[in-house]
Amino acid sequence: MPAVNIAVIGAGVVGSELINQLSHLKSYINYNVVLLAESGHALRSDDFSPLDLSSWAKNLKASTVPGMSTTEIADFLKKSPLPTIVVDNTSNQAIANSYPMFIKQGTSVATPNKKAFSSNIKLWNEIFDYAGKPGYGLCYHESSVGAGLPLITPLKEMLETGDEVIKIEGIFSGTLSYIFNEFSTVKPSDVKFSQVVKVAKQKGYTEPDPRDDLNGLDVARKVTILARISGLPVESPAAFPVQSLIPKELESVSSGDEFLDKLPQFDDRMDALRQEAAKEGKVLRFIGTVDVPNKQTSVKILKYDASHPFASLKGSDNVISIKTKRYPNPLIIQGAGAGAAVTAMGVLSDVIKIAQRVARD
Ligand SMILES: NC(=O)c1ccc[n+]([C@@H]2O[C@H](COP(=O)([O-])OP(=O)(O)OC[C@H]3O[C@@H](n4cnc5c(N)ncnc54)[C@H](OP(=O)(O)O)[C@@H]3O)[C@@H](O)[C@H]2O)c1
Repeated sequence: MPAVNIAVIGAGVVGSELINQLSHLKSYINYNVVLLAESGHALRSDDFSPLDLSSWAKNLKASTVPGMSTTEIADFLKKSPLPTIVVDNTSNQAIANSYPMFIKQGTSVATPNKKAFSSNIKLWNEIFDYAGKPGYGLCYHESSVGAGLPLITPLKEMLETGDEVIKIEGIFSGTLSYIFNEFSTVKPSDVKFSQVVKVAKQKGYTEPDPRDDLNGLDVARKVTILARISGLPVESPAAFPVQSLIPKELESVSSGDEFLDKLPQFDDRMDALRQEAAKEGKVLRFIGTVDVPNKQTSVKILKYDASHPFASLKGSDNVISIKTKRYPNPLIIQGAGAGAAVTAMGVLSDVIKIAQRVARD
């Protein structure tokens, strides 16, 4: 059975679930977790024997091994007798910046961290000019868009077999999916935008400061990733129009709570948009778009007919429509686009794919 040594960086919401799901992997690959690191502590197996994961959380907390820099992790993995995989479960930019270093030394990367794939295009090129070439590591990042939804893998397979993307459009943020599904419904409702945002925060769907969701940047990062995979060399998420849902007047208020207190003063703006859509029998949705023939990417509110699949979305699901030469009637992928279980599943599927490609029997 293929065998690999795995270094897990980050044991938060996704990382913890990933470690728990790892026990199921035995039937597919033979793996040893040889490093488990958070910023302050690490568990490390200097002789590359498998770490005992039965009480990893307690052991990690009690460990006197300090956190490691990416150079230290790379140097440690260089000594591994088996092929190595770094699983980056952080949202850390510095770790993302080090993927080229890992890949160039033959260590593969599996990650849900969007940063490496949606920052400047130089980093993207540094990764994919090498990843998968003989002697270099691989790089898989299914969960960086739509969490565990099968999106990046099928998209890459379509392109690798000669299909061409015409248009990708979708609802890529669970938070904004929930907000618009509640605010703009097929059966008209008069609930206020600010009220929906407040409830979304109470339910734990938003970032601590909801402006971090409403600024559209997270969606712009996902659009950047899909655009690049589709062949558009988007320079960065700042290189195309992104509609922010934060009223200009509230951009600089000092806290998320003050923002929520003042947001009702601006409800009339969203009400007017919703009314305009309703007059046409449409609903509002917050959409990321990649238009390949026209070389355009955007993130903005769009209107959809009540019969469109985006209009009937429920809860905080993501939905993505992919129109290609082979799928002129778009392929629709829909489901949970966040959450520990599905995100970790996407990362682990990447680990399996990497192990099957690189592992020695
Ligand atoms: N949660 C989701 O539903 C979801 C969905 C899709 C994608 N993602 C992506 O998955 C990644 C992880 O998300 P999460 O929700 O699990 O975040 P989280 O709960 O905040 O966990 C982050 C983990 O990374 C560790 N970390 C941060 N900087 C580090 C460093 N320099 N060295 C070592 N460890 C470091 C943290 O440890 P310390 O506490 O010691 O710093 C923590 O264990 C993110 O990139 C996120 O965008 C998450």
